Amino acid sequence: MSDTSPSIPPETLALSVICSAPDAKAEARVVAKGLHAALVEDSAPPPGYVLELGDRGWELHTPPELGLGTLKLDFAQGPTAWRLRQAGRRQPLGRAVGLKPGVDKHVIDATAGLGRDGMVLANLGCRVTLIERSPVMALLLRDALQRTAPPELRERVQVVEADARRYLLSLTVSPDAVYLDPMYPERGKSALVKKEMRILRELVGKDPDAAELLGAALACGAGRVAVKRPRGAPVVDGPAPSHSIEAPNTRYDVYLCPANHGPRLV
Ligand SMILES: C[S@@+](CC[C@H](N)C(=O)[O-])C[C@H]1O[C@@H](n2cnc3c(N)ncnc32)[C@H](O)[C@@H]1O
Repeated sequence: MSDTSPSIPPETLALSVICSAPDAKAEARVVAKGLHAALVEDSAPPPGYVLELGDRGWELHTPPELGLGTLKLDFAQGPTAWRLRQAGRRQPLGRAVGLKPGVDKHVIDATAGLGRDGMVLANLGCRVTLIERSPVMALLLRDALQRTAPPELRERVQVVEADARRYLLSLTVSPDAVYLDPMYPERGKSALVKKEMRILRELVGKDPDAAELLGAALACGAGRVAVKRPRGAPVVDGPAPSHSIEAPNTRYDVYLCPANHGPRLV
């Protein structure tokens, strides 16, 4: 594997943990240890990124000099909840992963990020495995799933903290589809890019290994792979897609893998 890390590896991130929930110190301590971050008890806010465990769960404060504020994932309100209400099986995302009426599928969302696309897929009836290699994002995703997702979605979604390139190649049971949405540097004019996505970009950096991830997705035995790209962006390096599905600002490149359409073990 040529590059096994995101461009800002978590161990180089200036990250501290604070706990403002009186009964949650033990949890905060375990998380801080797992992230190799200091659990800070001072009243002065530490510099850099700060993960805070409060009464409403985990949130990430970005360094004040970035001017981006706080990231908290919430699947019950805000943009994700809005998208969940709009979701229909014939929408481009559902078509991209091959959803059909009455057939429920297992989709691996190998670039979970803020969890929005993955939660939409779960809301459309898929079982979804969300893979995220940023330990901070994996923590926020797991917390939001437990605290804010409707119970029927919570049952269908699991969050795995892993590098999907390795995870996909280690599967013993293939999913029906793999969904990829690697970070695309020029996505929209910076002022128009939503704050949450700007925070995500600052935190995880670029995804320079998207071609390698596509290769792993195509090799993992899934029936199809769908890659989200901004409209007009080049395809990810690798084999040409079988077809593309256009949406207003987005394109889904679909790679059909007919050799993988045999009987499945589950
Ligand atoms: C553009 S964001 C995805 C946004 C997501 N589709 C959503 O709806 O919120 C890309 C995410 O994929 C993650 N990622 C990229 N390559 C990965 C890999 N090989 N394994 C696991 N996560 C990866 C990045 O850390 C980042 O959080």
